[in-house]
Amino acid sequence: MGKVHVYDHPLIQHKMTIMRKVETGTKQFRELVDEVSSLMAYEITRSLPLTDVEIETPVSVSTQKMIAGKKLGIVPILRAGLGMVDGFLKMMPNVKVGHIGLYRDPETLEPHEYYLKLPTDVTERDFIVVDPMLATGGSAVDAIASLKKHGAKSIKLACLCAAPEGVERVQAEHPDVEIYLAALDEKLNDHGYIVPGLGDAGDRLFGTK
Ligand code: URA
Repeated sequence: MGKVHVYDHPLIQHKMTIMRKVETGTKQFRELVDEVSSLMAYEITRSLPLTDVEIETPVSVSTQKMIAGKKLGIVPILRAGLGMVDGFLKMMPNVKVGHIGLYRDPETLEPHEYYLKLPTDVTERDFIVVDPMLATGGSAVDAIASLKKHGAKSIKLACLCAAPEGVERVQAEHPDVEIYLAALDEKLNDHGYIVPGLGDAGDRLFGTK
């Protein structure tokens, strides 16, 4: 079963609390999503392999470490996932970014794919699917299935806030996928919102509410 990592670093908890507040406006919300995403990217990449490189400092020749040419890709689930992309890119400016568009049927809460664009070398990359909210898990499960169908072999999922129901669904349907969270909340309500959550992440990011 895919491991769940909850990054409860004080900075992440503090920023998540401000994001959750109903009075936090779009500008600040977007900045905080960006900042928490960068902090998460820092943690998620902790296990990246390093290689020795010989360099010359102003003082001497020295053998130092650099990331060992691992090919990574980020795939935001549209539209709220877009809010996490820049935060990841600040830490890893050379990664490729795919996009997947899924919308939730308001009646069944099930996702439907309407857009998919991935890097051409899917089979050679390790992917991180990003979406701020892991609610029912439907979108995440479908996005991961789509990536696998196109040949992706290594996939991680990064979300800011999750309900236990969503975590369990991803673990059940994609046991090979590790999940990285900034917060694991209590439950889903009858409308599919995470409780206490932070509301509709897409609307709060883009000011559409
Ligand atoms: N999507 C959101 O944006 N918020 C939730 O609470 C659940 C799904």
